[in-house]
Amino acid sequence: MKIVLLGYMASGKSTIGKLLAKKIELPFVDLDDYISEKEKKSIPEIFEEKGEIYFRTIENKYLKEYLNKNENFVLSLGGGTPCYANNMQVLKDNNVHSIYLQSSIATLVKRLLENRSKRPLIANVEVEKVPEFVAKHLFERRFFYEQASITLKIDNKTKKEIITELR
Ligand code: S3P
Repeated sequence: MKIVLLGYMASGKSTIGKLLAKKIELPFVDLDDYISEKEKKSIPEIFEEKGEIYFRTIENKYLKEYLNKNENFVLSLGGGTPCYANNMQVLKDNNVHSIYLQSSIATLVKRLLENRSKRPLIANVEVEKVPEFVAKHLFERRFFYEQASITLKIDNKTKKEIITELR
């Protein structure tokens, strides 16, 4: 079974992905970690040194590479992965089950403000402008996220409740 978790930055894709993978006994991989390993650089370093367009190009390349090589997995995507380079179609073509972890703007802003440094797109946004940034960004991205096979609302739910709903 091929499962991907998608959604905005800080929606819990990696945390829930790891727990789900353990529960259903499938290997777990985070696409950002896969990209970092392949490029031998952190995500902020890639953005800093080569820019976002380069990142989007290799994100698409490594997503396809991973899907080609693996049959059974839980994969968490980056927040922008579904929105670039026709990646939602790539998932559909590979018969991947996709799960959108949907969260309110308030929850995302709260979580993002706790740790912005590892997220280059938001690291330099002034604190008071973060809510507006997230609202606009999410408005642009929802179209892609909503193409997922399943949408799961995660606000006010414990990790355990989310995993139970997914099973
Ligand atoms: C991005 C999200 C990040 C990472 C990169 C770009 C985005 O992943 O892929 O910084 O465009 O939303 P997370 O969603 O895991 O933070």
